[in-house]
Amino acid sequence: MSQNFLQTIEKHLPITDVLAGDKLNTAQLSAEIKKLLTEKNAAIVAHYYTDPSIQKLAEETGGFIGDSLEMARFGAESPAKTLIVAGVRFMGETSKILSPQKTVLMPDLHAECSLDLGCEPAEFKKFCNANPGRIVVVYANTSAEVKAMADWVVTSSIAVDLIKHLTERGEKIIWAPDRYLGDYITRQSGGDVILWDACCIVHAEFDATKIIALQKLHPDAKLLVHPESKAEVIALADVVGSTSQLLRAAQQSQAKKFIVATETGIFYKMQQACPDKEFIAAATEPFGGQINCEASCPWMKMNNLENLLDALKTGSNEIILADEIVKKALIPLTRMLEFRKKN
Ligand code: 13P
Ligand code: SF4
Repeated sequence: MSQNFLQTIEKHLPITDVLAGDKLNTAQLSAEIKKLLTEKNAAIVAHYYTDPSIQKLAEETGGFIGDSLEMARFGAESPAKTLIVAGVRFMGETSKILSPQKTVLMPDLHAECSLDLGCEPAEFKKFCNANPGRIVVVYANTSAEVKAMADWVVTSSIAVDLIKHLTERGEKIIWAPDRYLGDYITRQSGGDVILWDACCIVHAEFDATKIIALQKLHPDAKLLVHPESKAEVIALADVVGSTSQLLRAAQQSQAKKFIVATETGIFYKMQQACPDKEFIAAATEPFGGQINCEASCPWMKMNNLENLLDALKTGSNEIILADEIVKKALIPLTRMLEFRKKN
């Protein structure tokens, strides 16, 4: 990964106290949020990587917890007038593009994603222009502007299926921005794919050598891996999949113990769904020798009950997008949802 990428990410790492939400009165904040959700006909749409206090509240209030594809689908189908998207900014933007008539709020608009940050729209445009005649497929973890340049948007739950489908049609592909997921889908599909060079700084930390050592300590454990991880980590996996797919695998497996190579926020749901099973965090090594997340996404952890309440109360942190961008980005996003229905 280039030094430029590392510098961009370091500049955007949050310096906020990510545990601020834990220090506050959870019960009081939750009660206030519940009241406002009803008054404002609003629903919480949360990702598995957010703090358990947020996931719990989403469950208790008829909101939603899911992977990024399911969040997009729920947001589009929900009758709520306001969606409060607890996740990172691209998730809020996706909800807005799919439901422009709804108000979409986020607890913190600075909740970024290293993949989105690592794929600057003007640079991406140059890359596409330099590689004409290829279908442009972008990961959901991108800005609305990048999506507006794409033919297809995908999430990790359908990326392999879509690239196989396009390859069978004889298409050549541009894939952005996640190089490791791009490597994986290329190996799986045998397709002709040109890759953009960015990564998820959280998943890139999982370390194959340390994971092998952990497997030796727990020989009965199955290894669950998110495909944003490096090839050598994916090669060790018993199951590779999106967050929801990993959760389902843990539920359906006969095994009682799992080593989990994805963000640790998912342990809340895994433990809840499988109370009799044990989940162990996969081992990490600082990314690029510089960035140390320890499998916790610094931007996901910017969401807490206090800023969620504040956004709901004041209507602040609203996702606003230019009509032209919404119109263009809606095309590949609609294709993604239609593809999911058929496959
Ligand atoms: P999922 O679509 O698997 O939830 O992944 C989103 C994400 O940001 C993973 O890091
Ligand atoms: Fe982005 Fe990685 Fe955080 Fe997911 S875990 S939101 S891919 S930085």
